[in-house]
Amino acid sequence: MRIVFLGPPGAGKGTQAARLAQALKLAHISTGDMLRAEVAANSNLGRLAKAYMDRGELVPDDVIIGMIQNRLRKGSGMVLDGFPRTVTQAEALDRALAEAKSNIDRVVYFKADGEELVRRLSGRATCSKCQTPYNLTSAPPRKAGTCDKCGGKLVQRDDDKPEAVRNRLKVYTQQTAPVLDYYRLAGMVHEVNAIGTPDQVYARIEKAVK
Ligand code: AP5
Ligand code: MG
Repeated sequence: MRIVFLGPPGAGKGTQAARLAQALKLAHISTGDMLRAEVAANSNLGRLAKAYMDRGELVPDDVIIGMIQNRLRKGSGMVLDGFPRTVTQAEALDRALAEAKSNIDRVVYFKADGEELVRRLSGRATCSKCQTPYNLTSAPPRKAGTCDKCGGKLVQRDDDKPEAVRNRLKVYTQQTAPVLDYYRLAGMVHEVNAIGTPDQVYARIEKAVK
């Protein structure tokens, strides 16, 4: 099964993708996590991407498509989290899956309003090793500052600072919302209310992908 998670920053895509991928034995593919791994490794790609990410802007399409293409060509089961984010990326995804004689089965749209998103992002702490997201109020780690899963140190993402968050929300409306229309036209979108506890949201997602 190939599932696309679409929604604004802070909507809970990463939180839910990790859980669903584990439950359905799918690969969790997050372009944001892939980029942060490149930044941590100080690779050429990471250095190029960091400037865009810190400003809350999208990394150019050719860079993203180049980075992810090989994984898409395999066409195996996956939850795509944070990709595609432009119509150009959505078209590239369709082409790559067609080459692998596969297709997208579900597009899940996470619906949440701006105030809740800012609240979630300002309280987020992310594992510097495995990227698991925590939240100081809604999803705290068992031991302060430490990842429950791998023991890594929790940090604030550079793009969770207020100015970058504001820009990410703007960029989402301008560049990523059209991807929703692209999939809506194809009748593929399952809208999920992303407000509620993580367990409540997960139950809605389970229903949407059945
Ligand atoms: P990316 O890493 O994809 O960030 P994003 O889309 O901005 O989304 P987030 O990861 O911030 O939010 P999320 O929906 O995953 O929420 P989470 O589960 O963490 O991208 C980062 C940057 O990389 C981009 O700005 C861009 O520069 C670049 N990039 C990445 N992909 C790209 C692409 N395809 N093209 C171009 N550029 C790209 O949850 C958020 C918080 O809320 C956490 O604290 C969590 O614990 C908490 N939470 C989760 N669920 C709930 C709940 N139900 N109730 C209360 N709190 C909750
Ligand atoms: Mg995420």
